[in-house]
Amino acid sequence: MVVATSDPPLYDAFREAMAEVCGPVTIVTTMEDGRPHGTTVSAFTSLSLDPPMVSVALDRRSDLLAMVQRTGRLAVNVLSADQELLARRFARKGADKFDGVAWTADDGLPRLPGAIAWLRCTVLPVIDGGDHVIALARVDQVITLPGQPLTYHRRRFGTHVALRDDLAVDA
Ligand SMILES: Cc1cc2nc3c(=O)[nH]c(=O)nc-3n(C[C@H](O)[C@H](O)[C@H](O)COP(=O)(O)O)c2cc1C
Repeated sequence: MVVATSDPPLYDAFREAMAEVCGPVTIVTTMEDGRPHGTTVSAFTSLSLDPPMVSVALDRRSDLLAMVQRTGRLAVNVLSADQELLARRFARKGADKFDGVAWTADDGLPRLPGAIAWLRCTVLPVIDGGDHVIALARVDQVITLPGQPLTYHRRRFGTHVALRDDLAVDA
């Protein structure tokens, strides 16, 4: 058992605790001056059903964040289990992340084929989140496709396995 109350042990313990949280893997995209840009993001959450809203937490150093704040638009590509390489590619820095990657412009936002869900969004005011910024976004369009999700847990990519197929939660 690890009990941490002071820094830097607290930081290390916090990182370890968060590594235990299984998260989704998305590539959040935007388009600026006709050029697509995207970043791998796990801190993506459904926020509101009426109106449909999501939140995305972006590092203050993220190039995507600066672009999203300028354009006011973003799209969330929820990755499928066979898109790990794409997730790794978009987790690095650079203006060339889309080079050689198949994509289409959907109402001016970059969409990645093979993603199991697509959400086209308008960015609302951002909220301070420590070394991150929380972008709230209104969902304007949704497309879903069949497939298994890509997940991230203990710094490894994986997917979800249902414990029971016959007992869905009605939430
Ligand atoms: C699985 C995974 C999840 C990530 N989730 C986030 C996230 O939620 N927010 C974030 O700002 N960066 C996240 N990152 C890190 C960014 O993808 C990385 O810093 C990227 O280089 C930023 O690129 P940019 O400067 O072009 O936006 C994640 C990386 C990985 C591998």
